[in-house]
Amino acid sequence: MGAHGPEIIPELRFSGYPADRPVGKVDTNSIKNGWSMFGPDFTNTAGMWGMSFAGNISSDETGIGNWTEEQFMTALRKGKYKGLEGSRDLLPPMPWIVYKNMSDDDIRSIFAYLKTTKPVRNIVPAPKLPSEL
Ligand code: HEM
Repeated sequence: MGAHGPEIIPELRFSGYPADRPVGKVDTNSIKNGWSMFGPDFTNTAGMWGMSFAGNISSDETGIGNWTEEQFMTALRKGKYKGLEGSRDLLPPMPWIVYKNMSDDDIRSIFAYLKTTKPVRNIVPAPKLPSEL
């Protein structure tokens, strides 16, 4: 939060959940009552699936810097972690079920753009199981 409300932090753009930030305590009763909740900057979300952390999609090697276009397609079309066939499914709230309807050109354009972004080194933590909240 800045002086005028929520603000983008340009130097962290596209880098996902900041690995050096401790995860706040989760109100698991609200989750049992059907609620999901976001962390303070919307890069982590807790819900019935546990807790997910937004991926690093900056151009760094810890992001999509070493990815091929095909991997990016697999991530957005098939919802696969790291865009690798056979890897785990991407968790909510990553809306790949909607994004898979984008045209090949749109997905390629997003990928080409992300490759031009400032590399931000950040290894995003693994998701947590509901039992770990
Ligand atoms: C055009 C917009 C978006 C693009 C191109 C995009 C791309 C990606 C990619 C490529 C990954 C996989 C990262 C990896 O495997 O290392 C990812 C993960 C993720 N994204 Fe997105 N994303 C977009 C929008 C969103 C939105 C709107 C949300 C939340 C409301 C979101 C939340 C997440 C989360 C939580 C993950 C991690 C999921 C997991 O670990 O299972 N993304 N995103």
